Amino acid sequence: MKILYATSEAVPFCKTGGLADVAGSLPAALAAEGAEVAVVLPLYQKVKANFGQQLTFLCYDYVDLAWRHSYCGLFSLERDGVTWYFLDNEQYFDRPDLYGYMDDGERFGFFSRAVVRMLPHLKFWPDVIHCNDWQTALVPIYLKDDGVREDRFRSIKTVLSIHNIEYQGRYGRQTLGDLFGLDHGWADDGTILMDGDVDLLKGAILCADAVNAVSPSYANELKMPYFAHGLDGIMRRCGYKLSGVLNGIDMERYDPETDSHIAARYSAADLSGKAADKAELQKIMGLQQEPYVPIVGIVSRLVAHKGLDLICEVLHDMMELPLQLVILGKGDRKYEEFFRWAAQQYSGRMAVRLDYNEDLSMAIYAGADLFLMPSKSEPCGLSQMIAMRYGTVPIVRETGGLKDTVHPYEAWRDAGNGFTFASYSSGDMLHVIREAVYLYKDYPDAFGRLRQRAMACDFSWGRSAKEYLRIYSNVTGQPWPAPAAEAPAPVVEVPAPVAEESVPDAEAPAPVAEESAPDAEAPAPVTEEPAPDAEAPASVAEEPVPAAEEPGKKAPARKRTAKGTSKKPAVARKSAVKTGGRSSAKIDPSKNKTAAKEKEDAAE
Ligand code: GLC
Repeated sequence: MKILYATSEAVPFCKTGGLADVAGSLPAALAAEGAEVAVVLPLYQKVKANFGQQLTFLCYDYVDLAWRHSYCGLFSLERDGVTWYFLDNEQYFDRPDLYGYMDDGERFGFFSRAVVRMLPHLKFWPDVIHCNDWQTALVPIYLKDDGVREDRFRSIKTVLSIHNIEYQGRYGRQTLGDLFGLDHGWADDGTILMDGDVDLLKGAILCADAVNAVSPSYANELKMPYFAHGLDGIMRRCGYKLSGVLNGIDMERYDPETDSHIAARYSAADLSGKAADKAELQKIMGLQQEPYVPIVGIVSRLVAHKGLDLICEVLHDMMELPLQLVILGKGDRKYEEFFRWAAQQYSGRMAVRLDYNEDLSMAIYAGADLFLMPSKSEPCGLSQMIAMRYGTVPIVRETGGLKDTVHPYEAWRDAGNGFTFASYSSGDMLHVIREAVYLYKDYPDAFGRLRQRAMACDFSWGRSAKEYLRIYSNVTGQPWPAPAAEAPAPVVEVPAPVAEESVPDAEAPAPVAEESAPDAEAPAPVTEEPAPDAEAPASVAEEPVPAAEEPGKKAPARKRTAKGTSKKPAVARKSAVKTGGRSSAKIDPSKNKTAAKEKEDAAE
């Protein structure tokens, strides 16, 4: 199975949010399961500066989008069994930030067009392109557009992951042809239109062969107006191909036993290091050195959907409790100002750092006792999983991935791995914070067992990767795990003797199939609706699907640009100049490296 993962950010190359963590881990987990995986990203300024030396220039081509004809360079590097491709166009991506520019629509329109355009230059013709959020939402749309003319594009199935439906890529209707190069038919039938605007995510939801949300609960919530930002009707309509796959975390990176970012290491068996980390956190944040007072930690973007209003409402009541509060994050001014002011009122018991700082965040995960995430909505949320891994017991509102990962503490049967509340109510939140604080103080043994259960949770990517492979298998019709070609051999060797014996033999292959089934089913919480499994392929059945191998064979025919060439065809060169595409300096790999080096030097 050949998977191309298209994303606008990925750790360790570039990151603004959780998408980068997912894109940084999932591809390697898919590769570890035996899939062939490549990832494609824009070549941002930061990537060039930090990884320029490791990149290999492969080739370049031109991407036509509406009236634009733009240069696109292709670089790659290998990492963890995955090929990472970077698409280069300085006009669009040689900027300090990833997003936030007035031409973001054009930038990611170009990127999505380029992903499809550059396919012939990649190491394989993918069976599936897995897109993420609005930035790559045009990929399934362009594939359909190109599929009308060329069979090989129809052979590619698409999966769209929704990490946050709030961001949809909405633009004025005039952008349809002028910016995105799409025919008016896409608007006439409503596919890409939302309340009169172009809505890229909506178009992708309708065009993709499978859609998934990053947790089963979020998949459900997306069918409700409260969560769907106007797309609930579309999500309900597409329910047949919608599933929820819970994200994982990088269990190796986030391991208190080996983490070099924290002051003292520890494990579930020996938590003494955690006490040292707590003392260290109190020291660096200027809190009183009180080992028996629980520290409640918050690491969050300070924005409304993180539920910060609840904290603002009852902060003074919270501070009546015997606890210390640590907040790390930046965002909306109103929260920043409130928390800064509050920290002054409770100096020594409450500390705030309005920043994002990886080391400090790890110090909080390791040093705190409780981790507060009262989100109004949370598609998946990674922080609560990291906190649990570090034995910091989460207190969360039951929404999205928080609901799927944190199970409420039940004193009567000593169960659960955290504290939860359901209504978006500051009173309810305060109630469970109080419960948590007093469990910590008055019932340390019970709290200790709760902590152990949190630390024992398995949030590894392997589980999610298996679910994604099942989705890919559904949309492509390719069985997964791939049937082992050699499997029948042992059966042939054993059988002959007695008739009775051949019965068990005949059954022998069954366990093989059974074994794989539990694998696929193990992460039961993940699949929401089994129905789409059967229907997804059906939904594309009308289209003549070429033989799976055919496109791969055709692809080389289009490979016209020599690998590593620095000579450009004269015609192409002219076009580049005409459209202000790219200077030849960028095309030369050695020069690119020099440029990256210069930038590093300048940075120093
Ligand atoms: C978005 C969501 C977050 C999720 C992440 C990765 O950032 O807001 O909940 O964990 O994507 O899927």
